[in-house]
Formats: sequence, C-alpha cells, structure tokens
Amino acid sequence: MLRNITLYAEADYAAMSRKAAGIFAETVKENPTAAYGFATGSTPEGMYEELVRLYGLGADFTGITTFNLDEYHPIKPDDPQSYYYYMKKRVFDPLGIRKFNLPDGTAPDPSAECIAYEHKLANAGEMAMQILGIGNNGHIGFNEPSDTFACQAGYVPLAADTISANSRFFEDPGMVPRNALTMGLHAIMMAKRILLLASGEGKAQILAQALTGPITPQVPASILQLHPCVTVVADKSAASLLK
Ligand code: PGA
Repeated sequence: MLRNITLYAEADYAAMSRKAAGIFAETVKENPTAAYGFATGSTPEGMYEELVRLYGLGADFTGITTFNLDEYHPIKPDDPQSYYYYMKKRVFDPLGIRKFNLPDGTAPDPSAECIAYEHKLANAGEMAMQILGIGNNGHIGFNEPSDTFACQAGYVPLAADTISANSRFFEDPGMVPRNALTMGLHAIMMAKRILLLASGEGKAQILAQALTGPITPQVPASILQLHPCVTVVADKSAASLLK
C-alpha cells in the first residue's frame, strides 16, 4: 500500500459507516465553514445516517458548503430517483445544511451546466474533504473507464455496467437514465483529503486494482494513487485483497 493511503478495514458495514462518519465529523469540527464533496450510491448511506445521529448529539454541520459529485440527466429534483431528492431528504435537511450544490439534472444545455458547475467549484475554494464511493468498474463520480482521464466536469453517457448496477434502484430497469453530469477528476484530486468508502466482497477486486494496480484511465479511481492524502474506510470483505 502506498504511504499516502491510510486504510481502515472495519468489521462490517455498520462499523465502516461509523468510522467514516467519525472521520468526516472530526474534519468538519476542524474546518466548520469549508467546502466538502459528497457522494451518492448505496455505500455512503450508512455514513449519512450516522452523521444524522451525531448531529442529534450536537455535531454541527450547518456551516459547510457541499458539492455533490454527480446527477443523472435529464431528471427533475422532485423525482425520487434523483440524487437531489435523496440528498435533500436524507442528508441536507436532517443535517441542517443549506449551502448545497448538485449539477442541475434539468439543465437545458448540459455542457454549459458542467462549465457552470466547474466555476462554482473553483469559486468555493479548497474542499476540505471529498467523499467517494467506487463503482464496480472503478469509476469515481460518473467518470467512467476511458482512454483518457476526464479532468473537467462533464456530461457523460453511463457505462453499460453502471446502468446495470444502478438498475437495482429502479422498479423498471429500462428507466435508468443513460446520461449524467459529473464532477471531473481535477476537482476531486484538488480536495485536501479524500475519504473513499467501499463495502462488500464485490468491491474487493476493483478496490485492490485501483489502489495497488497500474494508474490507468481504464480504472479511473487509480488516479487516487497520485493524491497526497487518501483515507480508505472499507469493511473487511472489500479490503480482503489489500495488504
Ligand atoms: P454504490 O456505488 O455505492 O452504490 O456501490 C458506488 C459508485 O458507483 O460510485
């Protein structure tokens, strides 16, 4: 394992979520008005629930500004499948976070929306921490495997395995959006600290490949090997192929 990567291999999903929430809450305590990058997907759900519990115990997240990694396009914010809907209902409202940003899934010109999101990120200053999950194919945000690393925010077609993985959230798999808006790798890499979460046996291979294999745009998360401060919080199953 590289020296810039700290690994916590926790007993199970609940312990992983508690550990990650503790690290995040501690960082917010030290940087209560900074910008933070948030992720969706099933992996961080437990961490968000734990943050809500910590909020109930007095932790204060109300001063932070947040930027989500991605959003489907097109999708309306009141669509229960939108990342906006999930984040507002399950994270921002319960944590009292008012300064939140997501790419706009209703933007008529998605490419212009990506440029605008990039500007918003640049104007927010350094992100104190970026939370990440990892896709089965090694994507971070919706930066899918490709021949080149995607630096800037982009309007992207989703990879076939991402559509297939995300179909579990939809009653009708045919309804999974085919496109998305995503933060680019540059903004992710500029965060002061990365908090990467991974859970389950199914993520073991890709996590090991990303953190110890060749740095390649075919595994977008492998770029994290070049980040100076990465904390990986995994459960034992996801960490099983890491030394
Ligand atoms: P998951 O997704 O947490 O639902 O596995 C991770 C990701 O696609 O980044």
